[in-house]
Amino acid sequence: MNHQAAVIDLSGLPDATNEVYVPLYTNKSRYLVLYGGAGSGKSIFARDKLLYRTLTESGHRFLVARKVARTLRKSVYSSFVRTLSEWGLLHLCSINKTDMEIVFKPTGSTIMFIGMDDPEKIKSIDKITGIWLEEASEFTLDDFTQLDLRLRGQLEHYKQITLSFNPVNANHWLKKRFFERHDAQSTVVHTTYLDNRFLDDAYIRVLNELKETNYSYYEIYALGKWGSLEGLVYPHWELVDEMPADCEVRRWGQDFGYNNPSATVLIGIMGRDLYVQELLYESELTNAQLIDRLKPIPGLLTLQGFLDSAEPDRIQEFRNAGFNVRPARKEVKAGIDKVKSYRLKVVKGSQNLINELELYCWKLSRDKEPLDEPVKQHDHALDALRYAVFQGNQFEVKKLTYKVDGLQLHTTT
Ligand SMILES: Nc1ncnc2c1ncn2[C@@H]1O[C@H](COP(=O)(O)OP(=O)(O)OP(=O)(O)O)[C@@H](O)[C@H]1O
Ligand SMILES: [Mg+2]
Repeated sequence: MNHQAAVIDLSGLPDATNEVYVPLYTNKSRYLVLYGGAGSGKSIFARDKLLYRTLTESGHRFLVARKVARTLRKSVYSSFVRTLSEWGLLHLCSINKTDMEIVFKPTGSTIMFIGMDDPEKIKSIDKITGIWLEEASEFTLDDFTQLDLRLRGQLEHYKQITLSFNPVNANHWLKKRFFERHDAQSTVVHTTYLDNRFLDDAYIRVLNELKETNYSYYEIYALGKWGSLEGLVYPHWELVDEMPADCEVRRWGQDFGYNNPSATVLIGIMGRDLYVQELLYESELTNAQLIDRLKPIPGLLTLQGFLDSAEPDRIQEFRNAGFNVRPARKEVKAGIDKVKSYRLKVVKGSQNLINELELYCWKLSRDKEPLDEPVKQHDHALDALRYAVFQGNQFEVKKLTYKVDGLQLHTTT
């Protein structure tokens, strides 16, 4: 696309769009449901359609929402800004980076970005004229209903909610809402990587290899079929509002990553109940950045932490920074068994951990029987959980002296 000053030429857009999505540029259904396999071009199309409407229709207040605000900035928001820059239109926009708001000055249309975990910001946003729920499977039915109710009133242009997601779980409310009943207001579009002519060969190979390594994932991510709960490592867990203050044991666990996310979780054990709360889940953090992020968390420095033991240097750096940490035991099956010996309670807001719980599964044999080894995917927060919970025979060796006093036995440390 060529742009001279304020002359905007969008004639190249259809050619730059995967065929399956071209008719959807003019689709006016209230609900535009884009689901299917990974890398099928759903997010790029949803973004480009919102941009297209922003550039060609005036007075919009579009909302782009993800469940968690902090994942929004790096993913969707930056992708909008980058595209506006590639289209040579940044000089026509006013951009508020802090609040993540983009105004396209010639039309006065605005795009706002919010996370559902920021209720104050959601309350403050009114007169919305269109919504995109990215990774819609992360939203609860309540979240969806709340946003759906905000899109109302007489507007100059049609009102549309776009939902894009992978069909990870056949029990999901999305399936009941849009697939198990007919809704005349919705357009449902299924796509897979085969619909995306811009995909690179290496990515297609990764998707095809899933056929051998994990057939359930192959069905979801390559074929875009609704996933089943078969073979989940942690099928039973419950959402709770908070971790009780009086847990008998409190510890934290850390899994290290760089391209993959680093994940930190806090656990609390009370009787047979195991509470877990996600503290951090973020890619591309160096060890020093990770330490900087964790240090201000109240109480964490003194609490016993169990860290991924693959890189001892990183643990030493945590110690130097004043943390009370030790290398975690890495026996996977025994660790999972230990976690499963408790009733697992997940503190609300631990969204990445919840996403992993819904996907982490055992490897399947050729005849689709679960094996004793999990698939090494969607396991970062769950590894951190396992490290914090599974201590095996590790314990603090204390110096004990016994004093027999009549029939009383006293121990002093
Ligand atoms: N119109 C396009 N022009 C150029 N590249 C594209 C286009 N559509 C898709 N791609 C490429 O394909 C990749 C995958 O597309 P996209 O992220 O939209 O898939 P998706 O369906 O949202 O995947 P997931 O289900 O994993 O979220 C993009 O990162 C981009 O490189
Ligand atoms: Mg996507």
